[in-house]
Amino acid sequence: MTEKNLKTQLAHVAFDGPLLNASGIHCQTADELADLAATANLGGIVTKSATLLPRQGNENPRYYDLAYGSINSMGLPNLGYPFYLDYVQKEEAKPTILSVAGLSADDVIEVLRDVQNSDYQGLTELNLSCPNVIGKPQTAYDFVATRKVLERIFEFFTKPIGVKLPPYFDLVHFDQIAAVLNDFPLTHVNTVNSVGNGLVVDIEKEQVVTKAKGGFGGLGGAMILPTALANVRALRQRLNDNIAIIGTGGVTTGADVFAHILCGADMVSVGTQVIKEGLGVYDRLTQELQDIMDEKGYTSLADFRGKLQEL
Ligand code: SIN
Repeated sequence: MTEKNLKTQLAHVAFDGPLLNASGIHCQTADELADLAATANLGGIVTKSATLLPRQGNENPRYYDLAYGSINSMGLPNLGYPFYLDYVQKEEAKPTILSVAGLSADDVIEVLRDVQNSDYQGLTELNLSCPNVIGKPQTAYDFVATRKVLERIFEFFTKPIGVKLPPYFDLVHFDQIAAVLNDFPLTHVNTVNSVGNGLVVDIEKEQVVTKAKGGFGGLGGAMILPTALANVRALRQRLNDNIAIIGTGGVTTGADVFAHILCGADMVSVGTQVIKEGLGVYDRLTQELQDIMDEKGYTSLADFRGKLQEL
């Protein structure tokens, strides 16, 4: 096998490999984050989306495993942003992405003011897309609200920041969100969050499978791969070249990682499959990706990134 260069970059931050954990996956507590720091073939660490105040999240059951993926209604359980801001300033093993979320635009501004005033020089990611907070819509489905919050942020925020998006399903919506995002100096977009407000039915019990919101929850895993790939591709075709893309959604094999990169992803994050398989998944995915690159004679990610062909 020829030597592969799996290095990649988001803004000024260099990563040894393209794989990340999806925010929310094994990244809420100090112990979980320490496990990620020790995980081979994980290029960087994304923290659980942090809010102004700590949150317990939604009632259990709030995650349900399916043969074809998962449904979750976690509701942003997290230790509050000061914990994660402190963590990213101390973490030395791998580059970090500090994920933050707000229950309101004012919350977001307050959190980001502290990030701005801190010594943290790494990447931040604003989660505009959690579908599971009771009574709160997904901000990035409201293009006017998204523009307004970004305008407020870039009045004072000068550090590298990207956004986490929900999946879009109409080409007009890709045009609209790209037109908003292209007006701001974003480092990256992370696409997609879970496919919001799916419903899984247990026909034996004649019941839903998660507690909050009457069982409506975010879908992840294999079943959302085509949606995730479509979002990576459609955004890569529309966003300014200097906005990088983290592809998230549906990865179970190295071929799926390859497909995300072929659609234009600079990095690829893994969620449901980590829960199913454990942190060893990153070794397997890396090996499978390298095997595909070997078969095709590719030696770096740049050899095929964004080079998906049309018929
Ligand atoms: C959650 O905590 O509900 C999942 C995270 C997200 O969808 O942003």
